Amino acid sequence: MTIKEPVEDFATDWDHTDPRWVRDPYPIWATLRETCPVAHTDRYGGGWFPTTHEMVSSIANDTEHFTSRMVVVTNNKFPPNFIPAPMGGAPPITSDPPFHAIARRLILPAFAPGPVNALEPQIRSLCRKHLDAMAGHEFVDAGTGYAQFIPPGVIAQMLGFPAEDEDIFREIVHFILDLVDLAPEERGEMSEPTLNYFSNQIDDHLANPRDDLTSYLLNVEVGGKKLAREHVTGTIVLILVAGIDTTWSAIGAALWHLAQHPSDLARLVSEPELMPLAVEEFLRFYAPVTMARLVNDDYEFFGCPMKKDDWVLLGFPAANRDPEVFERADTFIIDREVNRHAAFGLGIHRCVGSNLARLELRVALEEFIVRFPTFTLANDADVTWAPGQVRGPRQIPIRVLS
Ligand code: HEM
Repeated sequence: MTIKEPVEDFATDWDHTDPRWVRDPYPIWATLRETCPVAHTDRYGGGWFPTTHEMVSSIANDTEHFTSRMVVVTNNKFPPNFIPAPMGGAPPITSDPPFHAIARRLILPAFAPGPVNALEPQIRSLCRKHLDAMAGHEFVDAGTGYAQFIPPGVIAQMLGFPAEDEDIFREIVHFILDLVDLAPEERGEMSEPTLNYFSNQIDDHLANPRDDLTSYLLNVEVGGKKLAREHVTGTIVLILVAGIDTTWSAIGAALWHLAQHPSDLARLVSEPELMPLAVEEFLRFYAPVTMARLVNDDYEFFGCPMKKDDWVLLGFPAANRDPEVFERADTFIIDREVNRHAAFGLGIHRCVGSNLARLELRVALEEFIVRFPTFTLANDADVTWAPGQVRGPRQIPIRVLS
């Protein structure tokens, strides 16, 4: 792991893994938005961080000047196993047009409302199983005892992977999204077990086809041809990573909020019909996902001289706090009615899993507050946050009051 200098000025030297940013990025973004508003860094080989909704939206919708070839900022823009545009290593999120539309269309049916809603009973029983394990304890951890278990169970079933491998899934997610400071060679070495895990799963599905997303991707044809093995691998890695850390973070952040805002918790308990609006406000206020782009060629953006292959970190969570777009943007309003947030992204890469994410968040919260109608944060100092581009609380020690 590289030892890094602490950040002194986020406008000229931002780092999204800096402990202050990880702990509470909102005041940093607010200051940048008012004074900068596109921050720069020489870290990670050079990059930019636009902070207004207008800028984030403009880049997300501009696939000519910005490529999705790599969406996670690391120290290596060209790793050894690098797969170039237009497919990239994890289609469709790393794909550019026109290939992107083909890769996206293949997976859309699995995430349509019908098949997703059919998962509700399974999600509910998964939640109840983990709540049962917490029952009778005054002090529990809503992160390590609850939020972290819900998305892996759902994704394992969709991909047809063994549910008991969920520790491996979390390690993979941690490696891909959190350990971004590793030197390129270290990252290369550490990626081997991950690639082997997926390779073994694919071999097993080729030998024993079954009714799941992995077998579907291995058999589906585009223009009369099956997908390349690297396409199938990239897409299942994406679904596993995109489906786990994101929703785990959203569930955790919502519980962390409720543990500190008894009036919001009381309203959700007594007015369950508020849940759909509350879910959208949790997503806006604590949006967990920030994705990156690379600049295609030298390009001037809002006066900034962006260079070919510079990173651009697309702060969807910062866009969600832009006071030009949201009234009282820095206030959590549980029944906010107008809420066109950008938590699921903007433009052609908008989240494919949004129906599933909303369902998991809603069910996980409904079940938790039915079981524990009053609870409070036991100790904020013990709360830990995942660093990097998917941000959410990992340890959330709470005290159950009833
Ligand atoms: C609260 C939970 C979630 C949030 C906040 C979230 C957020 C996002 C965002 C911001 C993007 C756009 C990325 C970009 O522009 O580069 C995205 C894309 C994507 N998400 Fe999600 N996501 C969540 C849950 C899920 C789940 C549960 C799945 C599936 C299992 C999923 C699958 C995907 C896929 C496949 C893409 C790529 C779409 C494309 O490139 O066309 N996400 N997500």
